[in-house]
Amino acid sequence: MKLYEYEAKKVFNKMGIPIPKKYGIIHSLKELDELKLEYPIMLKSMVLVGGRGKAGGIKKVKNMDETKKIANDLFKLKIKGMPVECILLEEVIDEIGACYIGITMDPITFNNVVIVSSSGGVDIEQVAKEKPHAILKREITDNIDKLSKSTADDLASFLVTNLNNKKNLKNILSDIISKVYATYQRFDARLCEINPLIITNDGVVAVDAKLVLDDNALFRQVDLLEMLGITEKRHDVAERTKNELRAQNAGFPYIDLLSETYVKDPKKLYVGLIPGGAGYGIFSIDEVATIGKRYFNDQVVPVNFMDSGGGPTQNRVAEMFHLLMDYHIVDLIITSRFGGISSCDIFIRGMLQAVKERYETGKRMIPIYGRMVGTDLPSAHTFLEKAKIENPDALKNVTIYVGNQKIMADVIREGIKKAYELKGV
Ligand SMILES: Nc1ncnc2c1ncn2[C@@H]1O[C@H](COP(=O)(O)OP(=O)(O)OP(=O)(O)O)[C@@H](O)[C@H]1O
Ligand SMILES: [Mg+2]
Repeated sequence: MKLYEYEAKKVFNKMGIPIPKKYGIIHSLKELDELKLEYPIMLKSMVLVGGRGKAGGIKKVKNMDETKKIANDLFKLKIKGMPVECILLEEVIDEIGACYIGITMDPITFNNVVIVSSSGGVDIEQVAKEKPHAILKREITDNIDKLSKSTADDLASFLVTNLNNKKNLKNILSDIISKVYATYQRFDARLCEINPLIITNDGVVAVDAKLVLDDNALFRQVDLLEMLGITEKRHDVAERTKNELRAQNAGFPYIDLLSETYVKDPKKLYVGLIPGGAGYGIFSIDEVATIGKRYFNDQVVPVNFMDSGGGPTQNRVAEMFHLLMDYHIVDLIITSRFGGISSCDIFIRGMLQAVKERYETGKRMIPIYGRMVGTDLPSAHTFLEKAKIENPDALKNVTIYVGNQKIMADVIREGIKKAYELKGV
């Protein structure tokens, strides 16, 4: 469960981590009248997704007129599709330097990992790529309850050296690193992060605060939830990609398996998946990857999870195909309709609707390989055969096996082979 920045800061304060002075939280402009503000102040949009600064959700203001105007703009802002429901008003901290401190768990070893960086206020993923020397990572393998003083000191020394030798900070930073670790442990967090920890003339201040709690341990955190006034379990808000938002608006579950900044490797083949249901969706990811490993030198990459849900409409099916054909990375669509609740007929009509529309408007087309069995199969079959005769060019690279004449693994293998041929690799 993600905490809002103001909630995480409350926790930091309790744990002795310095935070900026808070003037208040507002849900509407009216509430500004009740606050005593000392300018300049920061206006910070409270949403449960990251990248608020980049999206224009964090602003510094100098007077009441500016505060009203900017707060009004922020209330209209959507950050990664999430509306700004409240704004935190806090003191502006003057910085002479900034760094990063984060604790999380390594998903492979299950050990806690402490990460520090002398580049504060930027995405840690970006620092890892561009300036790996600015990051120090320590995996904690024993005595995990408390960070040892020597580890905290080592991490602090690294920061001090990289922050141009502000040596007087070493003890302060070591103490903060230990406190961030203690916060992570005490509240059963999955992530505890300060980005940036601002260095001032007098010490350090956490101007941002991120705390993600482990849902499975919430039953142990009754006191924390009470302190924060959280009475109901808050559903996790995932950060959606453009494709995920598009699917959400069209009404079907979709997850990108590659990051939005992923660079396509010309040697690889990228497969988009339109399966029947969620289980088949997960299974298809596995099957495509395994077939790629076994027969295609491990060069085949499944790119998405999708679930059409029971009984999708024809337009929704068409939108599933449009989404994957608009996604520049996809070289081949593998589809499987295992018609139980859903009708093969509606599925085939939706698919053909998308293919024909794209063909007629000159939009990007990619090969489709698949199989359908189940409800309404005869009418779907008739419709498909008729469409093939009427639109031979549009359906040139569409192969749908009808019924049980082939197992899905063979269909996938054949589709990949064909897509490689069409790609000319
Ligand atoms: N109280 C403050 N005083 C001075 N500068 C601040 C303060 N709060 C934020 N900033 C500045 O604004 C930048 C962005 O703020 P913040 O780190 O809170 O949001 P973000 O990291 O963009 O959002 P997210 O955590 O959603 O990714 C900070 O890197 C810092 O430079
Ligand atoms: Mg930040």
